[in-house]
This record gives sequence, structure tokens and C-alpha cells, in this order.
Amino acid sequence: MDIKRNSPKWRRTTMAFLVVVVVVLLLPASSEAAEILGLFAHPGKSHFEFFRPIFRELAGRGHNISMYSYFPLEQPLANYTDYVFKGSPLLTDVIDLMKFKTTERTLLGLPYKIPTYFMLHSWGMRFCQSALNSPLIADLLSSPLRYDLIILEHFANDCMTAVAHLLNAPVVALSTCAIMPWHYQRMGTPHINAIMPMNFLTYSDEMGLIDRLNNFIHFHTVNTLYEWITQPATDALISQRFGFGLPSVNEIVKNTSLMLINQHYALTGISPYAPNVVEVGGLQIGPQKPLPEVGWINPFKDVSPVMPLFQHLEKLMEDSLSGVIYISWGSMVDPTTLPIEKRRALFKSIAHMKDYTFLIRWKSDKPLAQDKPSNLFTFDWLPQRDLLCHPRVKAFISHAGLLGTTEAVHCGVPMLVTPFFGDQFLNAGALAQRGFGVIVHFGDFDEQHITSGLQKILEKEFADKVRRSAKAFRERPQSPLELATWWIEHVIDTRGAPMLENRARHINWFVYNSIDVYLCCLAIIGLPLFAIWQLVRLLRLTLGLMNATKNQKTKVQ
Ligand SMILES: *[C@@H]1O[C@H](CO)[C@@H](O)[C@H](O)[C@H]1NC(C)=O
Ligand SMILES: *[C@@H]1O[C@H](CO)[C@@H](O)[C@H](O)[C@H]1NC(C)=O
Ligand SMILES: *[C@@H]1O[C@H](CO)[C@@H](O)[C@H](O)[C@H]1NC(C)=O
Repeated sequence: MDIKRNSPKWRRTTMAFLVVVVVVLLLPASSEAAEILGLFAHPGKSHFEFFRPIFRELAGRGHNISMYSYFPLEQPLANYTDYVFKGSPLLTDVIDLMKFKTTERTLLGLPYKIPTYFMLHSWGMRFCQSALNSPLIADLLSSPLRYDLIILEHFANDCMTAVAHLLNAPVVALSTCAIMPWHYQRMGTPHINAIMPMNFLTYSDEMGLIDRLNNFIHFHTVNTLYEWITQPATDALISQRFGFGLPSVNEIVKNTSLMLINQHYALTGISPYAPNVVEVGGLQIGPQKPLPEVGWINPFKDVSPVMPLFQHLEKLMEDSLSGVIYISWGSMVDPTTLPIEKRRALFKSIAHMKDYTFLIRWKSDKPLAQDKPSNLFTFDWLPQRDLLCHPRVKAFISHAGLLGTTEAVHCGVPMLVTPFFGDQFLNAGALAQRGFGVIVHFGDFDEQHITSGLQKILEKEFADKVRRSAKAFRERPQSPLELATWWIEHVIDTRGAPMLENRARHINWFVYNSIDVYLCCLAIIGLPLFAIWQLVRLLRLTLGLMNATKNQKTKVQ
């Protein structure tokens, strides 16, 4: 067909072509706009900081987000509606370090962390009860709005899955830490005791026999406690609220289509996950922004009042002689509660390293004693991610929480970590084994350990190795946020990703571990052996008898 330029036909064709291009460009990238419900009953800020970027991204892609949580947005965002739980106080600055002398509990000389389970359990029950009975949930259940997907957290209990079950939509679960012992079976993903330390232990993928034994005992004890205590208690709260018609939460939770976890093999070691469990570690790390210079408004009004904190942050960076060392024990630990002798030890180490400038998050309403070294600067809040990637920052003193740890690894900053509770021990074990830093346990937190630890991680060789290893964490075929979004939209598009359904979650441990097959094999090998043995015995008996008769006969002759 020969169409002349500028002829009416040519113009019509061009117009049609342009309309198609515009329509294609305006369509959301993959799935159509979906109704997405977020259900987050745990009031821990560090958890939510891992979740929020996912929802921002989904809202930006045109999905409509209804978010039930303790953490409303500071600035409104299109396609994102907050519903804020009020039932429990936030878990910010709640850990009082005065209560710990040491954080390494031992039994027979081995780390003993079973009590952590009970702490998680009682927290979880409290948050479950207040969320379930919140008027927000009543309104949610009576609203006619239907959801294409529900995103919730798998953590200390499965309370919110009951709400998801009542709303009858596919579920994606998020985990801010390495998955808990009770998450393996529900996803049908394997746990290999020899290389996968459980969450509360400072082990890595290299364990000796005794460590593997302790790992085994912890994993199965905690898992059993969860099954015997947490699941029935959750079921009881659910039936109190919704009556007895629901399946047990242990069944409901197996409907989870996909789990996205804050892990990455370059930091936390190789683990064989089933395809319905996807590592998206580090997804909260957005693009680097310059440090704010003046008139910064503190976005965390719950932590401290508005004040211009950063007037001199960039200048501090430039002025430091050898570089900056950043100290933060996360949002839950209140550093002002550091026991006096440990605080003195830290301050002495800092004073000892005059060439370095130290920055710490320290609430301004708790003034520091006169013993504060002159090279230590305190701030109510610091822009951690951008600070860590600043070229002047040479080390990070932290508690091995996973957000800060992944940020430091991303930026290639060596760490000196003091784990306090929960999965911090596991993260510490992993980062020390992979050469990203050193551990100084709280019991050893004295001048000598802190100074020698810092000297070690500031050595050029150590720092160079950290930067090299960080590449493996940072360089990926797809950013973790893109990966998470792809999977979530895939679950929406396929209405729950039935192809990901993992049979392993429905079979019991006897079959899962092939105990029945081992028994059959034993029988197949054992029965013939037994038969042969019996035959030999019979033969010997017969031979013996024959000999005996012969002998008798000879005697008689
Ligand atoms: C909100 O969603 C609509 C589609 O539902 C989309 O066109 C729009 O860009 C979204 N808004 C923002 C700010 O992302
Ligand atoms: C988006 O969700 C809110 C509830 O969170 C709802 O009121 C609104 O109607 C929804 N918008 C669309 C376009 O579905
Ligand atoms: C699992 O999900 C399917 C479809 O989403 C639903 O029909 C079924 O009732 C759910 N089962 C449980 C135990 O929640």
C-alpha cells in the first residue's frame, strides 16, 4: 500500500498510531490497578520501615493501598489510605540497657535463647488482642470493598491471617528477619540444621557438632512451643472475636501464596528456599540523598520535637581528621540507658581515638554528663542510610539490627556490633563470619574490647575486604524493590499464584522427612539379610547335628 505523506489517510494512520502509543504508555506497567490491603499489627518501627517502601512503590504504580498499621505516612500519598491502630504503645526506645548485664545467656556453657520465644509470644498476644478488637477491624470486615491482595507480616503469631481468611483474598507475607522456625513448614521450604542457624543464636553456616546440636535443640524446642502455646492461644483470641466457625490458624496460614524476606545470601548465607520464599534483603535502601544541611525538620515527631539538627552535619564530616564513626543501636534501644561503667568505657575509647569524629543518636532531653568526649556529637535522629554511604564514614557501631546492617553492607562500611536480643545474634554471627565486622558482646563491652575492635575494622585490609564483599550484596540483576513488586503483582495477576502451591506444607514431618521411606529401605535391605542370617544359622545347626550324629556313630563302633 502506497500512502502519500500528509495525505488524509497518512494523517489518520499516524493519529491512530500515536493514540495507541499514548494508551500503552498510560497503562500501569504490568497488572491492572488492584485493591491492596496491608494488615500490620506489630508496633515496631524498624519492621515497618522495611514494609513501607513496598507500599509506596505499589501506590506509585497505580494500585490502591488501604494500610492498617501503627505507622501513618508523614505526608499524604495518592492511592494510599492510612487506618491507624491505637491499641498499643509503639516499640520505640523501649529497651532499657540497665536491665542487661550481659545479653549472652548460657546453659552448660552454650548459648541459651529459649526465653526469647516467651518474650515474642507475650508481645505478640498483646498486639493481636488489641488489633483484633480494634474498631478499625470491625469496619474493615463490614465494608463492601473487596481486595485483590492482602499483605501482612509473618512474625510472632498469625493473628491477622484470620482477618485475611474472612476477607477471602490471596495473601503475601513479609518477614523483616530470617524466617522463624515455624515459618518453614507453612511455606513448605526446607530447613537444613547443619547450615541454617536459628534466629536467636550467634552461629553462622559453619557449625561444629556441639553448635549443630544446640541449633537443633533450639529450632525444635521453639517450634514445638509455638505449636503448643502460641497457635492455641491465637486460636482462642480469634474465636473470642469471631466465634468458633473458623479453621485453625495453622491451616489458614498455609494459604499464604508467597513470602518475601529481608535476607540476602551475600550477607546471611546460602539457604535453599522453595520458590514461594523470595529474598528481597535491602529493599528499604533507596537512592542516596545528600545530607541535609540546614533547617532539617525531624520527621519522627514521636521521638523528639522539631528542631534544626543538621546545621553542621556536612561540616562535621569535612572537618574530621581521619573520618567519622557512626553509633546507633536502633530505634528500640534507648542508648541513654547504657549502664554507667559501659558508657564510661565507650567514652574512653572515643576519647582515645581523637582523630575520628563520633556521631550518636542520643535524646536531647537526657543531657550527657561532663565526661562526654569532645569528639563525640549527639543528635536526636540521624539520616542513617545517607550517612552510612557518605565517603567520610569509616565505621558503624551498632546492634546488628537487620536494617542498619544491610545499609552498612550496601555502603561497604565495616561494623562493630553488640547484639542485644532477637535475631540480632544471628545477624551478628553472619556478618562476622563474612568479614563485614566484629562482635563485641555486651558482657565484654569495655574499653579494651571496643578500642581493639575498632582498630581492627579500621585497618585498611579489613575495610578493603568489606568494600569488595559489599559488591556481591549491591550488584543484582534487579533491585530488591523491583523484585518484590514483580512478585506481588504476579500473585495479583494469577489470583494467588496457584502454580507456587507447595505440597510440602500439607504433609506431616514423618512423610516430609521420608522416615517411612527409610523404614521401607531398612526393611528391603534388612529382611533378606535376616533371611540369610537365619539360613546360615539353620545350616550350622543342621551341620552341627549331622556332625554330632557322626561322632556318636563313631563312638558306638
Ligand atoms: C494513583 O492511581 C492511578 C490509577 O489508579 C494512577 O493513574 C495514578 O498515577 C496514581 N497516583 C500516583 C500519585 O501514583
Ligand atoms: C481506595 O481505597 C479506599 C479505602 O482505603 C477507598 O475508600 C477508595 O474507594 C478506593 N479507591 C478506589 C479507586 O478503589
Ligand atoms: C484458602 O484460600 C482459598 C482461596 O483463596 C479459599 O477458598 C480457602 O477457603 C482458603 N482456606 C483457608 C483454610 O483459609
